[in-house]
Formats: sequence, structure tokens, C-alpha cells
Amino acid sequence: MSRPARSIHGEWSSRWAFILAATGSAVGLGNIWKFPYIAGENGGGAFVLVYLGCIALIGLPVMMAEVLIGRRGRQNPVNTLKSLSTEEKAPASWTLLGWMGLLAGFIILSYYSVIAGQAMAYVFRAFSGVFTGVTADGANSIHQSLTGDPERLLAWHTLFMVFTMTVVARGVKSGLEKLVSFIMPALFIMLIILVGYAANTGEYFSQAASFLFTPDFSKLTEEAVLVAMGHAFFTLSLGMGAIMVYGSYLKKETSITTMSISISIADTIVALLAGMAIFPLVFANGMSPDAGFSLLFVTLPIAFGHMAGGQLFGGLFFILLVFAAWSSAISLIEPAVAWLVENKQISRRRASVTIGFAAWLLGLFTVFSFNIGENWLLFGMTMFGLLDYLTTNIMLPLGGLLTIIFAGWVMAKESTKDELAIRLPIFYHTWRILVRYISPIAIIIVFLNKIGLVG
Ligand code: TRP
Repeated sequence: MSRPARSIHGEWSSRWAFILAATGSAVGLGNIWKFPYIAGENGGGAFVLVYLGCIALIGLPVMMAEVLIGRRGRQNPVNTLKSLSTEEKAPASWTLLGWMGLLAGFIILSYYSVIAGQAMAYVFRAFSGVFTGVTADGANSIHQSLTGDPERLLAWHTLFMVFTMTVVARGVKSGLEKLVSFIMPALFIMLIILVGYAANTGEYFSQAASFLFTPDFSKLTEEAVLVAMGHAFFTLSLGMGAIMVYGSYLKKETSITTMSISISIADTIVALLAGMAIFPLVFANGMSPDAGFSLLFVTLPIAFGHMAGGQLFGGLFFILLVFAAWSSAISLIEPAVAWLVENKQISRRRASVTIGFAAWLLGLFTVFSFNIGENWLLFGMTMFGLLDYLTTNIMLPLGGLLTIIFAGWVMAKESTKDELAIRLPIFYHTWRILVRYISPIAIIIVFLNKIGLVG
């Protein structure tokens, strides 16, 4: 299979469109819901430091590799890997990497939609004023009344999935651009306001800052290191072909390096702001930082319930969160949808509905994980926990590892050099050393460490 001269599925209207879409994909529940909760569960400071290290040393080089592979192949990840491996005279089994990505995206979407559904439910709760004057216990029981009720959770999950399918069916490029250029700045401003509100808690604000930024390595377990690395992939949308497929819509002239750096920085800032909005509230209200997946849903209502205009502001905040989740969810099924459209000649509409329905069905496991199925454990994890662990901590880092091996060892130096077109040679060499040695070795060490073979 050879690669098409131009993208067979169209191109972004501008470089800006790619940046917006990729940022829209990266910034989502991972930053605002997941990062604070896993940082809290894993002891804060040292975990955050490892996470930042993983973003810089692994995430960034992997992102550049994904974009360049996507742009060179110009198709969905499976076909792209097939044509590039033919071109580089490598075994066709590299397409398996594409398949694993399709599968990972599909599984992540199944639970992502359930959490996004909870954010949707919170839009209405915030606007209707149920948070007014709420205490920590009250916030907890509000969240539990939602997660404990499978029917409600299912309804919101369904609604979110229908939204996602609708956009994907119309084609990712139309619509997404306008949406993201509005949501991202608005979300950013809201977070700044929330951090400002949290700063009023005085001593608790400094307590939160030292919790997040003073590393205490005695709290760092092998498990925490794996979780931090997995999250670096998750938050940047790497390791499953989402950024690859977005890269395939990218025009040739754009600098991959500058874009990848800006996206990574923006994504990281949003996560740190979310942490600084949430943790002061945790400490000020005598709550525990390791509350787990409900952390966002039990802390922010307290802030909204006590600030002037919190009813309106809270509602708007959750609307933005839902939109941010939406622009991420789209990228989770885009690779699979693009594969169906490009190989099976079925319409985008049918492809989106088919995959969305299947992900919705799998999502039922997550819906039940919080209520009737909370005791269905496998390897000591709930169904939600297991699906998240399998994808975030195993499939994404493995996908990322194979991606950089492909870019660093399988593709000829000329190919990657030509595609990256970095002006200063030193930058290209740094990237190449990272993808050939440093990042793969780091990923492998974290894996081995976790299974107890080293360290
Ligand atoms: N990065 C998104 C977030 O932080 C989630 C996401 C979108 C994702 N596309 C992805 C995660 C691809 C892994 C792979 O919420």
C-alpha cells in the first residue's frame, strides 16, 4: 500500500485549526477531573514532579512522533502504519500498533462518557441552586445520589454519547474549530477565577501549594510512577493514534515542534490550575485529598455554593467542562471512524453510530461500577478501575513506546528529518536522541519497575 499524495480525507483549513483541535483533544476531563484526583491519591508533590518529567521527556517527543507519522501517512492510523512500513521496508505487523490504538480509544471513550455525563448532570444542579451553602457532607451526598442511581447515570451517559456521535458524524473539522476557539479561553478564565477564590483561603492555599509542589519521595511508590507516566499519555491524548489522525489532516508547511510544545504547555497549565483550585478547598473543608474519582464533584460545589454569583458561575463552569470533554471524546473515536470510512466505504454517519453505540454498550460496565456493580471486582478493581488501568497505564504507554520505536528506529533518518523540517540541527538531534534512547528506556524502566524486575 502506498501513501496518497494528499490527505484522502481532507485537510485542516489552517495551522490554527490543528492547534485548536489538538488542544481540544488534550484538554479535557484528564486535566480537570483526573489529574487532581490521582495527584491526591498518590501523595502530591513527588507524583506531580514525575508527571511533569514524563510530559517533557516522554510526552513531547511522542507527540512529535505521532504528528509526523500521521502527516506522512495521511490516513487513519492503521493504513498509515501499513503504508509507512511498506515504504520503510519494515514488517507489516506494525499495523497492529494502529489496531491497539483503535481499541484503546474505544475503551477509553466508554468510561470517559460516563464521567462526562456526571459533569452534564452537574450543569443542572449548579444552575438550580442545590449547591447554595452546601457543606462537605452535603456535597458528598449530592454526588452519591447521582452515582448511586444507575438509571440517572445511564441517561446522562447516553446523552453525552449521542452528542459525541453527532459531531463525529458531521466530520471533525467543521464545527470543532469554532467550538474550541471559544471554550479554551473561557475555561482558562474560569479556572483563574476559581484559583483566585481558593487563594482567599489563605493558609489552606499555601498548604495546597506545598502539597502539590513540595516533593516527598518517601510517598512515591512504583505504582505512583506508573500512574504518573500513564497520565502523561492520557492527558496529552497520546499512544492511541488520536494525535496521529489529527496530524494526518495537517498541511505540510507547519512546524510540528512549535505546535507540540505549545499544546503540551497549555495542557499542563490547565491541569496545575485545576489542582490549585481544588486542593485549597480540600484542606479548608477538612476533606481528604485521596477522595478518589469523586474529588472534583465534591469540592467545587462547595466553592460555587459559597461565592457570590456561584449559581450562575458554577453552571457555566460545568458547561465548559462538558464542552472540553466533548472535544476530547471526539478524538477518541476519530481514528476508528476514519478507519471504517476509509476501508469499508461506509458513510461517516454509519461509522460514528456503530462505534458510538458499541462504546456506549461497554460504558454500562462503568455505569454499574458506581452502584449495583461496585463489588464486581477483578484484580481488586471495579470495572471502571480496570478499564482505566488497562488503557491508561498499559495500552497507552505501550502504544507510545512502539510509536517512538517506529519513528526513531524503523523510519529512515531522512524521512523524519524531512517531515519535522527543524531548522536548527541541534533540535532535531535532541529529538532523535530522545525517541531512540531516552524516552523508550524511561518507559521500559517504569514498566519493569512496576512488575518488580528492577529497583
Ligand atoms: N486527553 C484527554 C483528557 O485529558 C482525553 C483524551 C482524548 C485521550 N483523546 C485521547 C486520552 C486519546 C488518551 C488518548 O481528558
